[in-house]
Amino acid sequence: MPRHGRTVEEIITDKRIDGHLAPRTSEAAIGGELLNEAIAGNKGSIVKAGDILDPLADFARSAAQTLARNPKSLEPRFLYDARGSKLFDLICEQPEYYLTRAEASILEDHASRICEIVGPTTLVELGSGSSVKTSHILRVFTDYYGMTHYVPIDISKAALEQAYQNIARQHEAVNFIGINGSYECAFPLLNQITPVTVMFFGSSIGNFGEEEERIFWTSMAKCLTRGDYFLLGVDLVKDTETLEAAYNDKAGVTAAFTRNLFARMNREFSSNIELDCVEHEAEYCEQRQRIEIGARFTKRQIIEVKPVAQSFEISANEKIHTEISRKYRLDNLIPYLSGFGFETSLVLTDSFKRFALLLLRMVKDR
Ligand SMILES: C[S@@+](CC[C@H](N)C(=O)[O-])C[C@H]1O[C@@H](n2cnc3c(N)ncnc32)[C@H](O)[C@@H]1O
Repeated sequence: MPRHGRTVEEIITDKRIDGHLAPRTSEAAIGGELLNEAIAGNKGSIVKAGDILDPLADFARSAAQTLARNPKSLEPRFLYDARGSKLFDLICEQPEYYLTRAEASILEDHASRICEIVGPTTLVELGSGSSVKTSHILRVFTDYYGMTHYVPIDISKAALEQAYQNIARQHEAVNFIGINGSYECAFPLLNQITPVTVMFFGSSIGNFGEEEERIFWTSMAKCLTRGDYFLLGVDLVKDTETLEAAYNDKAGVTAAFTRNLFARMNREFSSNIELDCVEHEAEYCEQRQRIEIGARFTKRQIIEVKPVAQSFEISANEKIHTEISRKYRLDNLIPYLSGFGFETSLVLTDSFKRFALLLLRMVKDR
């Protein structure tokens, strides 16, 4: 039940409670259904969060900041425009990319157990993408507890629309309330609903640097109420060959995904990047236990970021860092999470022990 007897929809759409989550104009309600309808009935909706009301300006400002650094980088969240989200779904189908299949198998095998432990709850998912794996969870929650509020949060509007197709129409007892915004949108919302279960799949936590991850868990712990749950999917440390193959699929889909970030800059900033000189690179750094992904330029380029009237010179052979994917050891991760107030209720792995799903219970008062 939401705290103070309020529904999830009321909290999301209440301008007084949080400026981030509230749509400022009716244009902010996207996905073909107006917000009012979402409030009135359990019909499903997608709400645009205030933090990305001007996505072009957000992208341009961030790109200008991170391209000015040494080494140059771009924030990974910009990999996911409509084309990037489609490419990510294709990556998940590649034979080398074991992560999705491993996590899906765990969810399929253990969804009922998770559901029995957690009890009736609002399900919030961070970086939900097309929500395909979440279907296993939603099926059992609706079977056990009837109407279930599902709040997927994703920076990609296209991914949420795809998720709506996958979920809302398949599961009649799911009230789909998509939020098109960044992970931070979750915090004010989580502050106000309990019981809640946050899901963060795909080992997306591994895209954070160490300091970013620490800040994330600190903020999360401040928002959750004692007894709330967090369902976390993490990729485990393993041999370099398997890891590097997963991020360098033979079909070249991951390479196309990296290159799309620069194609997006051409589309949105008129950057004039010659895309055939952008080479995808993904290497495992054993010392830091992380895959490091980037684009190596085979030729000197000038990248124009026209919305902020700036340009950046990239030398021949220079690499722009686009993403990291950290890998985890459970004997380090479980005590680390306990330091933020999370007790590990379940540790589940796939049959090859490549990937783990942790069910965490908040045991501290805020
Ligand atoms: C690696 S994909 C994982 C998708 C899905 N959860 C899965 O496990 O297959 C990451 C997802 O998070 C979204 N995303 C990336 N950075 C984000 C951010 N800062 N805030 C919100 N969503 C983000 C992307 O659009 C994408 O859908």
